[in-house]
Amino acid sequence: MGRILYVYAMILLNCLIWTSSIVHGGGVFEVSSKFGGRNRSLDALKAHDSIRHLQILAGVDLPIGGTGRPDAVGLYYAKVGIGTPAKDYYVQVDTGSDIMWVNCISCQQCPTRGYHGLELTQYNVKDSLTGKLVSCGQEFCKEIMRGSSSDCTVNETCLYTEIYGDGTFSMGYFVEDFVQYDRVSGDLQTESANGSVIFGCGAGPSADLVSADDALDGVLGFGKENSSMISQLASAGRVKNMFAHCLDGVNGGGIFAIGNVVQPKVNMTALVPNQPHYNVNMTAIEVGNATLNITQELFRIGNNSGAIIDSGTTLAYFPQAIYDPLVITILSSQPNLKLQPIHDDYTCFDYSGSVDEGFPNVTFHFENSLSLKVYPRDYLFPFDGLMCVGWQNSGLLSGDKKNITLLGDLVLSNKLVLYDLENQTIGWTEYNCSSSIKLKDEITGSVHLVGAHSLPSYSCRSAEKSLTFLLLMLLHGFLIVRWLL
Ligand SMILES: *[C@@H]1O[C@H](CO)[C@@H](O)[C@H](O)[C@H]1NC(C)=O
Ligand SMILES: *[C@@H]1O[C@H](CO)[C@@H](O)[C@H](O)[C@H]1NC(C)=O
Ligand SMILES: *[C@@H]1O[C@H](CO)[C@@H](O)[C@H](O)[C@H]1NC(C)=O
Ligand SMILES: *[C@@H]1O[C@H](CO)[C@@H](O)[C@H](O)[C@H]1NC(C)=O
Ligand SMILES: *[C@@H]1O[C@H](CO)[C@@H](O)[C@H](O)[C@H]1NC(C)=O
Ligand SMILES: *[C@@H]1O[C@H](CO)[C@@H](O)[C@H](O)[C@H]1NC(C)=O
Ligand SMILES: *[C@@H]1O[C@H](CO)[C@@H](O)[C@H](O)[C@H]1NC(C)=O
Ligand SMILES: *[C@@H]1O[C@H](CO)[C@@H](O)[C@H](O)[C@H]1NC(C)=O
Ligand SMILES: *[C@@H]1O[C@H](CO)[C@@H](O)[C@H](O)[C@H]1NC(C)=O
Ligand SMILES: *[C@@H]1O[C@H](CO)[C@@H](O)[C@H](O)[C@H]1NC(C)=O
Ligand SMILES: *[C@@H]1O[C@H](CO)[C@@H](O)[C@H](O)[C@H]1NC(C)=O
Ligand SMILES: *[C@@H]1O[C@H](CO)[C@@H](O)[C@H](O)[C@H]1NC(C)=O
Repeated sequence: MGRILYVYAMILLNCLIWTSSIVHGGGVFEVSSKFGGRNRSLDALKAHDSIRHLQILAGVDLPIGGTGRPDAVGLYYAKVGIGTPAKDYYVQVDTGSDIMWVNCISCQQCPTRGYHGLELTQYNVKDSLTGKLVSCGQEFCKEIMRGSSSDCTVNETCLYTEIYGDGTFSMGYFVEDFVQYDRVSGDLQTESANGSVIFGCGAGPSADLVSADDALDGVLGFGKENSSMISQLASAGRVKNMFAHCLDGVNGGGIFAIGNVVQPKVNMTALVPNQPHYNVNMTAIEVGNATLNITQELFRIGNNSGAIIDSGTTLAYFPQAIYDPLVITILSSQPNLKLQPIHDDYTCFDYSGSVDEGFPNVTFHFENSLSLKVYPRDYLFPFDGLMCVGWQNSGLLSGDKKNITLLGDLVLSNKLVLYDLENQTIGWTEYNCSSSIKLKDEITGSVHLVGAHSLPSYSCRSAEKSLTFLLLMLLHGFLIVRWLL
């Protein structure tokens, strides 16, 4: 599942916004300085002690960057260190898939610069003192291969293919190495720690890259399966099997933490069992003060086992029977709009007023009185001088995505979303994603603040380079929209 939707537009605008935030010293780059000047030797000592005692720690602070805005190239990514000595990798965080993978040295066509000019690195197992290949005889491989017809024998290298919803994929072999992370050690303080993790080593470029503007080193899956990094760290006693994200749709970046979040308080709802993804039962949709007339059967149309929560998808998708009343009711608040469909994908219109004043809020209701309010500024986005509706009709999708209900960054941004894999529940609350949250240390009971990040990455040069390409595409009236499920 998961990953992104790209609208190759507004990169220049994005560039200008980022530049101005540098010029004005707006918080974007300052946060990262917190990691500078760390007393490494002391950190290593403490990290060593804690690993020896195999304590469950207060948590992990995963610095993220990027944005989920559909009018930028929307994606969120994290920085992780891998290997000995450790090198930094930028990976897209995706709650819609499970394994972590990074591009490997054997990838010939992999770009060296990617999203927003990030410097990309190809992993080489031979360069790392701690890296080793995973064989088919290892438990991890046996579990991954269970049910597949692959006939790999004990001493062979364990191969994988991860296919995403839009047909892009990563293919390669599994390796095991140390992954470095920032362990929460105090209020807004972290220290370096590591754990052994099995991840994929991608042997070829994962997508038919039209440009490197969207490229990263790989994907960090936060799905439910045992193969995910968090499940591996949790089963080794390194972390609690709970995590939370607060994706900042305004400034980019936000909070991503592994651990028990005790502040803010969040209402939770049960995950639908036996689903490969994070599914929850939706019970009603309100548009403004009106509840849409949607029967419980309609919420389960086809083989729809609830709404999928997926940080790796930008927009939100509904079966036609829900999409139609939703969009019609929203647009009925402005009867004089002249609609201009763009490539059948988007419903757009001319609108110059304040969207929050001109359009209704949309509130989704779930089991256990959990609700989720989405503002017009979130579900409408500017494109090419028009305003476009972010809701999508999944009745137009093909294969097993047809009639799916999926809530992506469009609805998840600016909310603290908490995944409790131990209790199989999920919940959220509206939250300021440039503030901080509190994690509880399970051993000592002490509580620590974890703050927001916005990884510095930006190079306007790379955007300018791609501008020619962009203009070319726009001149041809060509809008690339892609989503990976
Ligand atoms: C690290 O911290 C220790 C103890 O506080 C101190 O003695 C040492 O000088 C510090 N090292 C550096 C490089 O700052
Ligand atoms: C991983 O942690 C251990 C124990 O603290 C430490 O000895 C080792 O150097 C770390 N490895 C890397 C690559 O940082
Ligand atoms: C697997 O490798 C080990 C050591 O390299 C060897 O002893 C063993 O015979 C091999 N097994 C098979 C089935 O090839
Ligand atoms: C995941 O691991 C847990 C404990 O190690 C095990 O009980 C469970 O069956 C595993 N789940 C799957 C899908 O393999
Ligand atoms: C969700 O809806 C299904 C179908 O009505 C029901 O079986 C299930 O108990 C509900 N709740 C959860 C948490 O799965
Ligand atoms: C709902 O809102 C509309 C317009 O915003 C208003 O005319 C109507 O009276 C409201 N209905 C209720 C039940 O509040
Ligand atoms: C709701 O929809 C059902 C069929 O989809 C219809 O029979 C019913 O009259 C509708 N109720 C209202 C209040 O519109
Ligand atoms: C999708 O929903 C339509 C009704 O809106 C239904 O006719 C169709 O069979 C469904 N398709 C799948 C694959 O569930
Ligand atoms: C729903 O799933 C079942 C089995 O999982 C399958 O036999 C059936 O064809 C599916 N129905 C639709 C409409 O996709
Ligand atoms: C949307 O919700 C906000 C916050 O509750 C409220 O201030 C605003 O008036 C609502 N917008 C509309 C159009 O009702
Ligand atoms: C949390 O639950 C309470 C009642 O249990 C409800 O009033 C409140 O609206 C819920 N908040 C959210 C964000 O769902
Ligand atoms: C998880 O479940 C356990 C036992 O059912 C309960 O004690 C605990 O409070 C739950 N945790 C959360 C965060 O709801």
